[in-house]
Amino acid sequence: MAEEPLLRLVDVAKRFKGARRGAPPVQALDGISLTLDPGRSLGLVGPDAGGKTTLMRILAGLVEADRGSVEVMGRPVAELDRNQVGYMPQGGALYGELTVRQNLELYARLRGVEPEDNPDRMATLYRATGLADFRDRPANRLSGGMRQKLALACAVVAAPPLMLLDEPSVGVDPVSRREIWDLAQELAGPHSAIVWTTSILDDASRCDDLILLHQGRILYEGAPSGLAKVAADRTFAAPLPSEGRREALQDLLERAEVVSASMSGRSLRAICRSASPPPGRTWLPAEPNAEDGFSALLDDGRPLPPSVLAEAFPPRTADRDRPAIAALQLTKRYGAFTAAQDITFTVFPGEIFGLLGPNGAGKSTTFRMLCGLVTPSGGLGTVAGRELTRAAVGARAALGYMPQKFSLYGDLSVIANLRFVAGTYGLKGAGARAAVDRVVAALDLEPFTAHMAGLLPLGIKQRLALGAAVLHTPPVLFLDEPTSGVDPLVRREFWHHINAIAARGTAVLVTTHFMDEAENCDRLLLINRSQAIASGTPDDLKRAVLGNPDPTLEQAFVTLIEAQARSESAAA
Ligand SMILES: Nc1ncnc2c1ncn2[C@@H]1O[C@H](COP(=O)(O)OP(=O)(O)OP(=O)(O)O)[C@@H](O)[C@H]1O
Ligand SMILES: [Mg+2]
Repeated sequence: MAEEPLLRLVDVAKRFKGARRGAPPVQALDGISLTLDPGRSLGLVGPDAGGKTTLMRILAGLVEADRGSVEVMGRPVAELDRNQVGYMPQGGALYGELTVRQNLELYARLRGVEPEDNPDRMATLYRATGLADFRDRPANRLSGGMRQKLALACAVVAAPPLMLLDEPSVGVDPVSRREIWDLAQELAGPHSAIVWTTSILDDASRCDDLILLHQGRILYEGAPSGLAKVAADRTFAAPLPSEGRREALQDLLERAEVVSASMSGRSLRAICRSASPPPGRTWLPAEPNAEDGFSALLDDGRPLPPSVLAEAFPPRTADRDRPAIAALQLTKRYGAFTAAQDITFTVFPGEIFGLLGPNGAGKSTTFRMLCGLVTPSGGLGTVAGRELTRAAVGARAALGYMPQKFSLYGDLSVIANLRFVAGTYGLKGAGARAAVDRVVAALDLEPFTAHMAGLLPLGIKQRLALGAAVLHTPPVLFLDEPTSGVDPLVRREFWHHINAIAARGTAVLVTTHFMDEAENCDRLLLINRSQAIASGTPDDLKRAVLGNPDPTLEQAFVTLIEAQARSESAAA
């Protein structure tokens, strides 16, 4: 006899009341039906605020549907035995003061798994998350990606029959992303099922089935390969020019016939609104992927307008050859542990400089030292000619900083947060109002202005945080993983803004775990385990990949990290 489905949803709907009095209610889900059999994995994707988290919360029994039936393991969800479900809420639910080991063991015991009786399971989790050396570190001192991996391990520690993972791979580096997916699959086995929400289509493509939720409805359901086919016959590639690659991309994105465009390897890629390629260049048909299909399916038909955010930045042409950001042997130690060691680089006005590296490499630590939020143990950091650790707080107005972790006021509305931040930058009256209006319009925040910031969907939080960092059009911009948790179409828009802001003469320091985004950078520094291991243009880094004439930056990243690991183990 066939096993019962682990999940069966019929015509599920959920509506929330409007954020302000008199505002219409929000239909978060509408007419969702699906089944999930044992041994299957389901990837849940969709644009920001598309309904993914609401659906996950309904499946976990935390939110009640208004309509329809929800059965988990053959019983109504209201009778759910929580021990049978491994639920990882967005951002995880860790105890910050407890160590890695204490968190993991606590979750294990809560689920009836005694760590002492299951040494293999615990060892597997430590290995797969790379946290073995950090067992005794409190969770609130882990890097963003390390925390995310620990939260996932806690959710799956008991290998429950149903795993509900809400954005487990946000902020996780490209190598670890694959590893944690393998781990989840390994633990799932033939009788368990996984639901995995993500804004990364590459992750979702590893699932057996994929559902794309848009405005509370299912827009696509089926194999991941089927989603890619939506963009068949309208995906094209052309050789990437060696000079002016960002300008070429900007130009493409603003064309009426183009849905989305990106750089990959030595190519410019474009997804078009019809089967004819954009004019100019020598375009050849290219194989679409699930992300291309996603973009094509959700295309609203409107060309991307020039960046209003960037237009507000005054053109800065002076002092182009004086570094706007300089890190000279920046070092940070926490006790015996070194988080960043002798990090040296400079960023000039108008340049986009990318810090890349695996989770825990020391990227955010370097950002925080440069922004004057963490005191270096050694070395020097200057921003716009000033040493920020010693400068007055006012000097920080010269820079915009988007931290990795959301740090605006969760219990204030979107608009109140923006007004507050504008005030801290010294913007007043009409100037402040104009800045706030511009950010709201450019980042499509209008529907959310009255929402409490802490309750926003992840991708919308990121838009708000980016908006807050550029309100005062600073000459120097620090963006720590700006696009983590943002859907592909909005990621494209973010980079459209970032590129246009740099073109005005602003210096941008950015980190990202998306290697296609890193192609936008003029120069890159790759750090691993606190030290710089490679630097140069994207093409310079790709030269590390031998025997492949057209490697992607992701291949270069993996090659360089693995080479360092090998040379270290040879030396040991
Ligand atoms: N207050 C602290 N005490 C001890 N260790 C810390 C502290 N803050 C950070 N670390 C450690 O420093 C290392 C680097 O962390 P950092 O946040 O800079 O990494 P990252 O490169 O930004 O990683 P991710 O990609 O995950 O964001 C990590 O091992 C982290 O646990
Ligand atoms: Mg970080």
